[in-house]
Amino acid sequence: MSTEARLLSRRALAGYGLAGYGLAGCGLAGLAAATILPRPALAQGKAAPVRIGLMLPYSGTFAQLGENITTAFELYLAERGGTLGGRPVTIIKLDDQSDPAAAPQNVNRLLSRDKADVLVGTVHSGVVMALVQASREKGVPLIIPNAGNVAASRELCAESVFRSSFTNWQPAYGMGRALAATGVKRAAWVTWDYAAGKEAGDGFRDGLKAGGAELTQTLALPFPETNFQPILAQLPGLGVEAVGAFFAGGGAVQFVRDYAAAGLREKLPLCGSGFLTEGTLAAQGAAAEGIRTALHYGDGLELPRNTAFRKAFREKAGREADVYAVQGYDAAQLLAVGLDAVKGDVEADKPLFAAMRGARIDSPRGAFTLSAGRSPVQNIYLREAKAGQNRVIGVAAEALADPGTGCKLA
Ligand code: PHB
Repeated sequence: MSTEARLLSRRALAGYGLAGYGLAGCGLAGLAAATILPRPALAQGKAAPVRIGLMLPYSGTFAQLGENITTAFELYLAERGGTLGGRPVTIIKLDDQSDPAAAPQNVNRLLSRDKADVLVGTVHSGVVMALVQASREKGVPLIIPNAGNVAASRELCAESVFRSSFTNWQPAYGMGRALAATGVKRAAWVTWDYAAGKEAGDGFRDGLKAGGAELTQTLALPFPETNFQPILAQLPGLGVEAVGAFFAGGGAVQFVRDYAAAGLREKLPLCGSGFLTEGTLAAQGAAAEGIRTALHYGDGLELPRNTAFRKAFREKAGREADVYAVQGYDAAQLLAVGLDAVKGDVEADKPLFAAMRGARIDSPRGAFTLSAGRSPVQNIYLREAKAGQNRVIGVAAEALADPGTGCKLA
């Protein structure tokens, strides 16, 4: 079905007050019955809450990431008095446990059982594919507040699929370029063996290449395992000058600690996509000191929007904000742009999506716009971990867009 046809059919269902039921399982009998119903739904619908399904990890290695996204999403809603586009908002939370196998069923629950009008999720690049598929099939607006799976902004891009985050390629590309600029010629990549780790490795490779250096080896272990010893034992024999890594959450804490404990820090400088040290520095302690990473956010960004956001987040959560919190906040800002434009009529797909596509988000990371693949065009900062902070020490890549290969949208 073409996107246009999908959007039309979703709107047609909305006219009968059936939008929340999705297309699946909506047989002829259901439609026939619907035609004889009175249609108070639209008038009432404006005052009824917009139902936002948050599908995120609230347990497992990415639990803290899901919590920070949620807290900051709710923070923005509270700043808006709990309404977007003039309608109250109801949030439904679902713990996806970063489990790709359970993802289709979880998405279905949010759409069919919980009648979500909008989907926001998730963290894990494998799990997000079920959300992308549902959004493409049903035309339900989706905002990805983390998962960097490149397909969502490339061959699987769609008018209904947005992200407030990054693609896995972006930060790692910046890191590869910054590392090559220091004169390193050969580097290795260490990661979990799943889409995010692989795609970040591609970015690191491309960044190194742009600076005249080479990615010579990739070593990986299954997600979310943390037995790093076999990999750490191999690194000194690879003939490389530096090691780049993609890990996040609890796994990143463990990897950075184990790397230092193995005595590798002095022999092989460790760098990576910024998630390696993001929201993890307190737990990593001295093991993280001096590690350079690249990310679309960093500590000490002196932007009024950032200062205000960090203060508000600290007051609400009792802890410091990080990139995950920023992405959650910006997911809510992006949705607000869309819903404000259609005065809360979430079924008005075309103007809703057009407003979101054209948004300029005043983010704590610095303002960003969206690429044709509906993914942020943003600065990738070079950071260095010092005294518990990821201090910005430069810009690794300015206004960087994902290549968007295979995305046919404008
Ligand atoms: C991903 O799976 O895309 C992912 C997970 C955690 C991160 C970043 C990316 O911190």
